[in-house]
Parts: sequence; structure tokens; C-alpha cells
Amino acid sequence: MTRGPTVLVVGGYGAVGRVVTRALAGRGVPVVVAGRDPARARNLAREHPGLVTLRAVDVETADGTLLDGSDVVVMCVERANARVANLCLTRGVHYVDISATATVLDDLERLDPVARRHDATAVLSVGLAPGLTNVLARRCVDDLRSATGVEVTVLLGLSGDHGPDSARWTVEQLAAPRRSGEGRRARVTLPGFGARTAHPFAFSDQHSLTRTLGVPVTTRVCFDSAAATAALFGLRRAGVFRLGRRLVGTDRLARTASRLPLGGGDRFVVHVAATDDAGSRVAYAVSGRGECHATGVVAAHVVEELLRRNVGSGVRHLDQVIGAGALLDLLPAHGLTVHASA
Ligand SMILES: NC(=O)c1ccc[n+]([C@@H]2O[C@H](COP(=O)([O-])OP(=O)(O)OC[C@H]3O[C@@H](n4cnc5c(N)ncnc54)[C@H](OP(=O)(O)O)[C@@H]3O)[C@@H](O)[C@H]2O)c1
Repeated sequence: MTRGPTVLVVGGYGAVGRVVTRALAGRGVPVVVAGRDPARARNLAREHPGLVTLRAVDVETADGTLLDGSDVVVMCVERANARVANLCLTRGVHYVDISATATVLDDLERLDPVARRHDATAVLSVGLAPGLTNVLARRCVDDLRSATGVEVTVLLGLSGDHGPDSARWTVEQLAAPRRSGEGRRARVTLPGFGARTAHPFAFSDQHSLTRTLGVPVTTRVCFDSAAATAALFGLRRAGVFRLGRRLVGTDRLARTASRLPLGGGDRFVVHVAATDDAGSRVAYAVSGRGECHATGVVAAHVVEELLRRNVGSGVRHLDQVIGAGALLDLLPAHGLTVHASA
């Protein structure tokens, strides 16, 4: 039997990874699910007999054999990303990364010459934020033609579908020192939630979109519970997250924060607005349930595009390889709603 191209999903049984695995295997794409304890992925293998296979891998120590038989690698974990990307690209294997950390993306961008030399593609900023925020920001800037500023607001569900690594990432950002020039909090009207106060937050888009769109980009966050947002950012201002991280470490702090009775649900909104000097404004938003679900849907779409057509070699961000129209059109089938001029 001839098999089609095979996709390796690192962290393929995590909160995002299992969405990617299910989406691809559901469309008949063979998937190798990798992680340190692949026994945790037995259910996925049972759901898709013959299509999902398991591989024990620790990416911190893995060598090139990690990639055996793979045509595309999806990195659903933030560990040793640049090393894994380098292993992929030097072997001509395409690479997709859902990382939301600016320093990780900076390291990956530096691999652009390697990718070009080996005629391989790395797609970064894949997911919700970064991800859908990228395509919405590009659409806003294209609509206005002479945009002078872009504002990205992300509302996250406090009891969403995120796994331990996503919770860890959020706590890392809350514990990070405030940067000069990171902007002020703002009132933003979000579909389904009304006017909310959103706080400056270091989504990677702020850096990568500012570079790729050539327009200053500000990123903010709030949570679905307004009271919890005020409380968490009050604690942040008082330095409680920074102190907690120093005392107990990020992992324990994230576990403790996840157990706080903050309420909330799994709904999210990403909202992007752009303005120009003439006072024109455009805005788009996407809302839905489960930020990891949305991230996995976008990642699976990117993989299918890489398997379907040549998107050009090099290291690119999502909005540089995938048109907004096609991506936004497929979202409703996955329970996500696209709002224009919200
Ligand atoms: N772009 C976006 O919008 C977006 C949205 C959501 C999440 N994210 C990012 O996606 C990442 C994953 O989030 P998640 O909620 O899916 O986390 P998760 O549920 O904790 O999943 C992480 C997965 O990675 C595996 N893993 C951890 N360390 C590993 C290692 N050294 N080698 C191989 N596999 C390893 C874990 O399995 P084992 O521990 O058994 O190895 C698990 O399968 C986070 O970094 C998060 O920030 C991005």
C-alpha cells in the first residue's frame, strides 16, 4: 500500500496537539504522535487505526532520527524549538510552529537562510494569537491601505481547554517585568462581551506584526470574567506573580494559579482594529470556544496547505503564506464566528 505524506506532531496528545492529530487523521493523513509519554496517546491511536502511530521522544535530547519518515513536523510544545526546526529544515522537512513567545520566534526567524538553502518552509505564528490575529491584522491593513496603528485584543476563557504548557505560558507573561512603551490599558468592545478593559500583554504579534506589516502593533489581553481580569492585573501590578515565580518557580505557580476559583468559561475572542491618519477605522474579530481547539484547527489547515501546494521556501509567519479569505471561510465549520467591523 502506498502511503501519503506523513506528519509528525510533537506534543501531539497535548491540548493543541490532539486537535491537530484528530483533524489530520480524520482527513486520512498519516500522523506520528510524539511526546515523552506516548502511552497517553493510546486513545488517539485507537480512534484512527493504521493512521496514528506513537513515538517516544524528548525534544530536548532528540536527534535527526526524530524525523524518520516525516514530511512535515508540527511543533506543539515550546521546548528546543530552534534546534528541532534546524533538524527539519536542513533535511528539507517542512516545519510548523504554534509558539506564542517572541524570543522563540526570533530564534526561528534566523533560520530563514537554512530553509531557503534546503528548499523547505517553516510557518510561524500559527494558532489564535499569534495566528488568527496575524491574518486579521493583515486584512485590516490591506483594507485601510495607509494604516498608522493596529490594536490586537485577546479575550481568553479562564476555564478554557488549555493544557499545562498554555497555563505556564500565561503565568510567564504575567510574571514578566513591565516594559517601557508597552502601552496602556484600553476599553474595547468585544462581540458577545460588550465593553471590556484590556491590559497590555506581551503577545509575540506585537513584535513580529510590527516588523512584517510595517505598522506599530499593540497587544492587550483580558479574561472572560471582568472581575478576575481586574484581580489578576492588580496582582501583576503589585509584583505578586514575579515574586511567586522567584519563590516557587513557574511550574508550581502555574499549577496554583490554575486551581484558583476564578470562574469563567471557555469562550475566547480575538479582535483586531486598525486606524489611519484620516480617522478611518476597520476591525475584525473571531470568537468561539476553546483557544487550543482554534489553534489546532489553524495548524491543521496550514499543514494541509503545505501538503497541497508549494508556498515558497523560507521562514514565514502565517499571514505571509495563507490568505485571510480561505482561512476565515473555513472557521464556521469548526464552530468559530468571524465578525467584521466589530
Ligand atoms: N499560537 C497560539 O495561539 C497558541 C494557543 C494555545 C497554546 N499555544 C502554545 O502551545 C503550546 C502547547 O500548549 P498546550 O496547551 O497544548 O500544552 P500541553 O497540553 O501541556 O501539551 C504539551 C505537549 O507537549 C509534550 N511535551 C512536553 N515536553 C516535551 C518534550 N521535552 N519533548 C516532547 N514532548 C514534550 C507534552 O507531553 P509530555 O509531557 O508527556 O512529553 C504534551 O503532549 C504552549 O507552548 C502554548 O503556549 C499557542
